Amino acid sequence: MPRIGLLAQKGGVGKTTLAVHLSVLAGDALLIDLDPQRSAVAWWRTRAAPLPAMAEGSATSLRSALAAVRAPWVLIDTAPHAEEDARLVAENVDLVVIPTRAAILDLRAIASTVAIVRRARTPAVIVLNAVPPGRTVAEATVTTEARAAVQAYGLPVCPVAVGQRAALSHALNDGRAVSEFEPNGKAAGEMRELWRWIHDQATDAAGRSGRAA
Ligand SMILES: Nc1ncnc2c1ncn2[C@@H]1O[C@H](COP(=O)(O)OP(=O)(O)O)[C@@H](O)[C@H]1O
Ligand SMILES: [Mg+2]
Repeated sequence: MPRIGLLAQKGGVGKTTLAVHLSVLAGDALLIDLDPQRSAVAWWRTRAAPLPAMAEGSATSLRSALAAVRAPWVLIDTAPHAEEDARLVAENVDLVVIPTRAAILDLRAIASTVAIVRRARTPAVIVLNAVPPGRTVAEATVTTEARAAVQAYGLPVCPVAVGQRAALSHALNDGRAVSEFEPNGKAAGEMRELWRWIHDQATDAAGRSGRAA
């Protein structure tokens, strides 16, 4: 039962977007919204499909709530600017996913999140999100530069960078994910590749922590 927490102290970097999309691709998943803004819950309320299952709550009750969960996959969306909550999430998941945009201020801002996961000794990975779409197969220079910059944090960086693509937000309007809204589009393809990579990272991490799927 791998548990994945999306963490970033900065808002607007893609925690909710990625949590929602990955939870749909995970199939039989429980999506937990810990952000008081409840954006993931609002998305789910407009959704027709039964999965993912949805729960909301606070980081302080996460540990006891997780003890009762039977879903094969758990994804946790979190609030920005909430260091204590981030610590509690990091301590109760198998894998932390840290999304960041490729701009320098965003790349620097993940230092505090990296420090939190280090203290918790939880495996964590960095995902570059909303990067300018590259030409054909080559990624844009800013993406390559951002990838090099975040390598300094010493965490695995996802080989798939998620492009800035309108379909990723449009799909959410009526409770869908891009894999349902435009399954053959580039955004859906990138999301599937991202999920494959995260799936493997989380499965490995959960295996090491004794919580294999
Ligand atoms: N890859 C992307 N392509 C296009 N828009 C994106 C992408 N990632 C995030 N966004 C948009 O950026 C805004 C912030 O994203 P969100 O997931 O809410 O961030 P967070 O949960 O970290 O605050 C939203 O309007 C969302 O639609
Ligand atoms: Mg959010």
